Amino acid sequence: MSNATDNWWRSAVIYQVYIRSFADGDGDGTGDIAGLRSRLPYLAELGVDAIWINPWYPSPLADGGYDVSDYRDIHPTYGTLADAEKMIAEAHALGLRVILDIVPNHTSDQHPWFQQALAAGPGSPERRRYLFRDGRGEDGSLPPNDWHAAFGGPAWTRVPDGQWYLHLFAPEQPDLNWDHPAVHAELDDVLRFWFDLGVDGFRIDVAHGMAKDPALPDLGLTEFSVLTAEGQNDHPHWDRDSVHDIFRRWRAIADGYPDRRVFVAEAHVRPGRLAHYLRDDELHTAFNFDFLKCPLEAGPLREVIDRSITGLAAVGAPPTWVLSNHDETRHVTRYGRAYTGVRSALLDQGAPSDHALGTRRARAAALLMLALPGGAYIYQGEELGLYEVEDLPETALQDPTWERSGHTIRGRDGCRVPIPWLGTTPPFGFGPPRSVPWLPQPQDWTAYTAEAASADPASMLQLYRAALRLRRAVPAFTGEAFSWLDSPQGTLVFERGAGLLCVVNLSDLPLPLPDACQVLLASGPVDDRILPTDTAVWLQRD
Ligand code: NOJ
Repeated sequence: MSNATDNWWRSAVIYQVYIRSFADGDGDGTGDIAGLRSRLPYLAELGVDAIWINPWYPSPLADGGYDVSDYRDIHPTYGTLADAEKMIAEAHALGLRVILDIVPNHTSDQHPWFQQALAAGPGSPERRRYLFRDGRGEDGSLPPNDWHAAFGGPAWTRVPDGQWYLHLFAPEQPDLNWDHPAVHAELDDVLRFWFDLGVDGFRIDVAHGMAKDPALPDLGLTEFSVLTAEGQNDHPHWDRDSVHDIFRRWRAIADGYPDRRVFVAEAHVRPGRLAHYLRDDELHTAFNFDFLKCPLEAGPLREVIDRSITGLAAVGAPPTWVLSNHDETRHVTRYGRAYTGVRSALLDQGAPSDHALGTRRARAAALLMLALPGGAYIYQGEELGLYEVEDLPETALQDPTWERSGHTIRGRDGCRVPIPWLGTTPPFGFGPPRSVPWLPQPQDWTAYTAEAASADPASMLQLYRAALRLRRAVPAFTGEAFSWLDSPQGTLVFERGAGLLCVVNLSDLPLPLPDACQVLLASGPVDDRILPTDTAVWLQRD
């Protein structure tokens, strides 16, 4: 792809392919590369610029593939390296760029390095690639510190010889020691391996967690990050300043390729800290989780939008926007609840949701997101209006959160249910007839298939297609201009330059549209130039 399109990532719409659940070519119940290849034309027709594929490497799937046992191969369930190469070439031929997911904070416990570390014993060079420590207490039977794991329980597991190893996530995901030169060299090489194969970029998993305080001090009451008077972050394992050295090195690797290769950070950090990851010589973009988690209310949204745009402008980076992903409750369900933001799994899970209301709001949110300056992420199935499957049988749950929380938090499987493509009975074209998807699909997904949506002019899919077509056709969408216009409480109105307006009504009152404008696209019916509640519209001034 040419130099003229070098800045494609600044306003790209990137479609997230959760490969396990996207399309199953061989009928084993799990998505795969063959399935993805067969659906690339659908993605090109949708009008996205790139795909981001969740980890597809060999893995015991203790955490859905975020436990990698070989960074240079493909999980046999998904296909082969040759299939991956074909997929990349076909995507490129359709004008779609390909972004992979790199998991550098931890490996699988089945990774040869970890197996070697276990075998080599305490004090060995093999153990130094991970974070092994002796325990506390007289017999070392207490964990080395008080850190806790993201999926529940302590962040330390004891091995038979008595030492403990650190895992900020599941025990099957031992953390790498990023103070070890071999770890740097290995991941550098992994990046090059895939860049050489033609991938256009990487999403970096847990980018904010790779650097640890080598003293591994207790957390005490520290929850996220603590900034010192000098603006340094004192948290022992989240968002440490030393992590930026790693990303400078990675940026130099990406820039060593003549065409632009890019990074997007998964970094959960305090507002204001994200810009550090996106300095000129570091990463290109980062997910905007503040936007995803924000309640669908005008005041909080306006605040997040302002903070995102101005915060990143300081380092010349474009903002990005995202409504859903494979870790969060699908937004049709969230927006149908009394509280529409994200708090915690315990507070939010199972809260009653009105899907019709959530769908109306999700349509409005799509037009809001796709009108904002910068890049946007679409999570597979959101273009079909899928809701969270909250009643999966307990026996089907696979997210480690379910076990690690002592069966109190169901986890993230409800947003990972395989995609319905066509037909009237499961597997809805996800795999061949009579194949059994790895998570059961609801029977009412008959109405949500891509086939049904393609035939319905009022479907979510048609809205996304129309929005993405306009985003490409109207230059103001991909420019950087953005300004708020005065509007009544509970509404958002902004201009993107050249008379292009986006109006979102999240108030209880109908909102008259400005004069001398024509409607380019609306998320719901607009009669007599009145915008109903929970509706958004794109307008062009005459
Ligand atoms: C973030 C990923 O999105 C999530 O799915 C995974 O469980 C954790 N990182 C750990 O790798």
